[in-house]
Amino acid sequence: METQIVSLTQGEDKESLLAKLAQAGEIIKNGGLVAFPTETVYGLGGDALNPTSSQKIYEAKGRPSDNPLIVHIADMEHLEKIVQNVPESAKKLANIFWPGPLTMIMHKSDIVPMQTTGGLDTVAVRMPAHPLALTFIQNAGGYVAAPSANLSGKPSPTKAQYVIQDMDGRIDMILDADAGTDGAIGIESTIVDMTGEVPMILRPGYITQKMITKVIGKTDTDVTILDNNSKQPPKAPGMKYRHYAPKGELVIVEGEPEQVIRYINQQAALHAEKGEKTGIIGTSESIGQYKADSIKDAGKRDDMLSAAQKLYTFLREFDDENIAYIYSESFSSEGVGQAVMNRLLKAAGHRCVKL
Ligand code: TXA
Ligand code: MG
Repeated sequence: METQIVSLTQGEDKESLLAKLAQAGEIIKNGGLVAFPTETVYGLGGDALNPTSSQKIYEAKGRPSDNPLIVHIADMEHLEKIVQNVPESAKKLANIFWPGPLTMIMHKSDIVPMQTTGGLDTVAVRMPAHPLALTFIQNAGGYVAAPSANLSGKPSPTKAQYVIQDMDGRIDMILDADAGTDGAIGIESTIVDMTGEVPMILRPGYITQKMITKVIGKTDTDVTILDNNSKQPPKAPGMKYRHYAPKGELVIVEGEPEQVIRYINQQAALHAEKGEKTGIIGTSESIGQYKADSIKDAGKRDDMLSAAQKLYTFLREFDDENIAYIYSESFSSEGVGQAVMNRLLKAAGHRCVKL
């Protein structure tokens, strides 16, 4: 299949932008697939109400079909069409956080096919904050099923070039909005399951449990999110798969900063002796003290949003640079840091050295 790559730039005149988004919407309505930008990561979109489209998404990603898709909407009225009884607490959260990086799981209505929900009778819904995404969804008929636009197992794409790397030849169109993605969050939305008595966070993200609790009171967190040793399966089916994995072997190193720097430099030197390339993810405070083939600055130690924005890009860059071993400093689990550590631990297959 030939993939059309269409670039959308902020300075572009409105008419040409709208024409492109209308064309992308038509593709979705006709059962095709379009990758599009959101404020978190790029999504791989298809018509959420068309079972064949959802099947195509699984095929294009190489994703197991028991792993449900998020339905993206652009209008609050559309929520009631795909969900049975929107809970009051969900309305409150939508009021505060939509459009934005929050996904809510609710009981699905009959119009949502089982292919979209991976056989579950619940559906995940989110209204993204990216203006181009909202217009695209409206043009596409209002309901766009979209996982992250990476091949299954690879880091989610934060830039169109990575979508092209993974999806060229597999889908109809890629909307490249890299020129307009300033301020992107860089990791996927927070997922909260609204179907139980107490809402439960299944995947941490930019919107933290604290922020959610402030709006609706008591919430729980799925224990598998940060626990290395949990034997329980995670409640979001997708969280059980190895994810975000770079080609190189990633290890997280935890300890006092000086110890961490010394340890990582020792390891890098050992690899260098064997001719193996090493990459490092550090913080602005420590970055000048490392010696390795590729050194990435995640930002200041207390700036977890910066780490979130950069993490997946770093993992993709290490792949491009053929890095065989990657060492990352450990980050704070406060606020957005919880989401950063959750993704980093998964990318590392939970390999963690404690000094
Ligand atoms: O930020 C995001 O959420 C991005 C952008 C494109 O919107 N999308 C995204 O989708 O991250 P995906 O498919 O990569 O991750 C969706 C996660 C999976 O772990 C899946 O198992 C879970 O959501 N999920 C979806 N529907 C669910 C349901 N009904 N019950 C439990 N988990 C669900
Ligand atoms: Mg994903």
